[in-house]
Amino acid sequence: MIRFHEVGLSYTDGVESDGRAGLVLRDISFTVPSGGFRWLLGPSGAGKTSLLRLLTLAVRPSQGEAVVLGQPIHLASRHALALLRRRIGVVFQDFRLLGHLSVFDNVALPLRLDGRPEGQIRADVAEMLRWVGLAERMAALPPTLSGGEQQRVAIARAVINRPALILADEPTGNLDEAQAERLMQLLIEMNRLGTSVIVATHQTGLVERYAAPALRLERGRLVGDG
Ligand SMILES: Nc1ncnc2c1ncn2[C@@H]1O[C@H](COP(=O)(O)OP(=O)(O)O)[C@@H](O)[C@H]1O
Ligand SMILES: [Mg+2]
Repeated sequence: MIRFHEVGLSYTDGVESDGRAGLVLRDISFTVPSGGFRWLLGPSGAGKTSLLRLLTLAVRPSQGEAVVLGQPIHLASRHALALLRRRIGVVFQDFRLLGHLSVFDNVALPLRLDGRPEGQIRADVAEMLRWVGLAERMAALPPTLSGGEQQRVAIARAVINRPALILADEPTGNLDEAQAERLMQLLIEMNRLGTSVIVATHQTGLVERYAAPALRLERGRLVGDG
């Protein structure tokens, strides 16, 4: 369901002034089966966010072949990518909440894009906000929330429409231990129901508590797959 074959990524679209190819990811090959769980590990600057940006279809590979949810993204049309993106839930490292929309409306967004009936949206969003402990902040605007609260809204938005694939970039970076525990329960439950999950983190404590195969990046290369 995810298959990368010798994928490279350059943000400079070619060659650096010193003549080297400016690749932040190189020779990346791995597969994640449908319903798989993977940690994405590596020190800061190793390329974790860049790899997730390929998987979220924000950028296309500069080299190689990448298949996401069965679609070859190096070949897909913009329209096909837009449809595919709706099946992927993303927790961005910097949240990317819409500041002028309420917590409720931020979380409801993926359901409204899917055209779900408003009554169902109301019930689903209320239940999800209870789960992440934000039922009382439903009407608040994101800029008035703490970092941890914003992170929980971002998580709720990413999982609300039961995407086929969840990608989370350091999703517990702003959470205390109890909240992080709860988030992991949520991701594991989604995974158990068939969603593929990839979680980038450098928090080794989290990885130790939840044993799962890891993709390890170092300076833009995959150094371990398993
Ligand atoms: N938009 C960008 N333009 C140019 N270089 C970038 C961009 N984003 C990240 N990089 C570079 O790519 C490398 C990997 O960064 P990143 O993927 O953010 O790593 P990580 O998430 O593991 O900390 C770093 O050297 C970083 O400076
Ligand atoms: Mg990062």
